[in-house]
Amino acid sequence: MGTRGWANLRHALETSEGALDDALGMEVFAHFQQHPGDAAMFDAAMSSVSRQEAIAIREAYDFSQFDTLIDVGGGRGLVLASLLETNFNLCGVLCELPNVAESAHPLLGRYLTDGRCRIEAGDLCTAVPTGGDAYLLKRVFVVLDDDRARRVLRNCRDAIAGDGRLLVAEPDPSTLYGRLYDVFMLMAHGTGLRAEAEMPRTSERVSAIPIESTARPKKT
Ligand SMILES: C[S@@+](CC[C@H](N)C(=O)[O-])C[C@H]1O[C@@H](n2cnc3c(N)ncnc32)[C@H](O)[C@@H]1O
Repeated sequence: MGTRGWANLRHALETSEGALDDALGMEVFAHFQQHPGDAAMFDAAMSSVSRQEAIAIREAYDFSQFDTLIDVGGGRGLVLASLLETNFNLCGVLCELPNVAESAHPLLGRYLTDGRCRIEAGDLCTAVPTGGDAYLLKRVFVVLDDDRARRVLRNCRDAIAGDGRLLVAEPDPSTLYGRLYDVFMLMAHGTGLRAEAEMPRTSERVSAIPIESTARPKKT
């Protein structure tokens, strides 16, 4: 599937629209809802990346300060499961598109059973679940064009508790990996990594959520 996007890269370079979206004739996540085989391949690849990132994220930031974390576009729940595993007082909500939400049950199973977690299927461009004091967008901001990013930020602003936090976790655009990922995102979605300096502009203007600080995972 990805090769169709790369073969159409010129479209992204000329228009800033996703070459993959264009080749598929629809937004890639809409395509996944109609093609379970492609979706399963993508979700498995995402989980494999997130397995390593989950450890870096939980070591870089103190999640024990929160009661309820909403993982917005949290994939199959790998990161949420990892945070629930190490923060015993934390509850979690996974918010995902219906086809992905269904596939999150195996990883989150024990937390669903003991009542520390629930899964909400839905479109985060329409609404995100209320009731969290922390909202995590990991590798989600980057798949959203500016219009969608604004809608999602506004929905987070509407849902988040007064003293809540919005946490954005993405590859660092100043690294070689970040630069390659930037091109990959241009090919796939016509988007790209937003530099740290661009975040306050988008976040504060659109959602009135101030950027307080940034954290980097420890080097191993
Ligand atoms: C790049 S993946 C990141 C998944 C997960 N956060 C992680 O890092 O492993 C982007 C996720 O956003 C979800 N997503 C994209 N558009 C969405 C929408 N409109 N509503 C809900 N979820 C969406 C996709 O299903 C996908 O799981």
